[in-house]
Amino acid sequence: MAKRNKIGLIGAGNIGGELAAMIARRQLGDVVLFDIPSKTDFAKGKALDLNQNSAILGYDANIVGTSDWADCAGCDVLIITAGVPRKPGQSRDDLVGINLPIIKNVALNAKEHCPDAFVIVISNPLDVMVWAFTEYTGWDPKKIAGMAGVLDSARLQCFLAAEAGVSVKDVRAMVLGGHGDDMVPVRGNCTINGVPVSQVISSERLDAIETRTRGGGGEIVKLMGTSAYYAPASAAIEMAEAFLKDQKRLLPAAAHLTGQYGYSDMFLGVPVIIGGAGVEKIVEIALTDAEKGMLAKSVASVTGVVDVAKRLSAQSA
Ligand code: NAI
Repeated sequence: MAKRNKIGLIGAGNIGGELAAMIARRQLGDVVLFDIPSKTDFAKGKALDLNQNSAILGYDANIVGTSDWADCAGCDVLIITAGVPRKPGQSRDDLVGINLPIIKNVALNAKEHCPDAFVIVISNPLDVMVWAFTEYTGWDPKKIAGMAGVLDSARLQCFLAAEAGVSVKDVRAMVLGGHGDDMVPVRGNCTINGVPVSQVISSERLDAIETRTRGGGGEIVKLMGTSAYYAPASAAIEMAEAFLKDQKRLLPAAAHLTGQYGYSDMFLGVPVIIGGAGVEKIVEIALTDAEKGMLAKSVASVTGVVDVAKRLSAQSA
């Protein structure tokens, strides 16, 4: 008998709720919406609301709210948003002290209850959290990726489309590196249906658009008092769907590097192919010297926060 996919959402907050709604509408599978015990009722309430929504929208998906990890057993995909988001004035890296013990708890439970899942980490600071999850579990690097590049590239696409006065559907953009303010937009790979953006938009305006992209998350935090959740959820769904449907999508995601781009033993945003086996390939693209320099700066930032995480981990061991 064919069975539905089962998708565990660890964290039933803003992104978790939007993820559940999208999974149901796209009928990607059944959903376990998990949160901490003090928020069990909150998770159950969101699940009930979404189950009732199925009668109006006509989807077949069962959504369960829980704080019992046993309910996550057998999940094909786990999407992790557990932790706290930024407040105005905070950087993503400021969250490491709070979110590191949370990701440790999540990682150890995931290892016990759903060791075969494809894991997509969203919690910030992203590149450090995905690294930490792997450190605590020894997870197969092909079965884990961090979501940031799809979102950062979407922000760049959106700004480029508005500037050029074209449909966002025709804009392709690529942002690599760490999910921080020194992420690396790869200008040469940004096109409007194959036309390089530099032939349509002036370099001064492209500079300004790239700067806005780097601060794209912070711009929303400043406006809302918390971080974005619609586009982050959609971005993670692209990755989950690529895995569940073996789509072989080429997407930027935080993947485990073993020498690619000159870096090893770390997670960093790079183009990958996601299919039924998970992160099936890391794609190496040519970068200009300036882009290589930006990537080195981004790597230094990520490594600095990984070092903080290592110290915190040792203190709490
Ligand atoms: P939120 O505060 O709305 O939801 C987070 C949920 O995690 C809360 O309901 C909380 O109770 C839960 N949680 C805390 N500890 C937990 C644990 N041990 N197990 C399970 N659940 C736990 O936050 P939101 O807006 O959903 O953001 C989640 C994370 O995603 C934040 O760290 C935020 O910075 C990050 N983020 C990452 C992006 C990216 O591009 N990678 C983009 C936007 C946000």
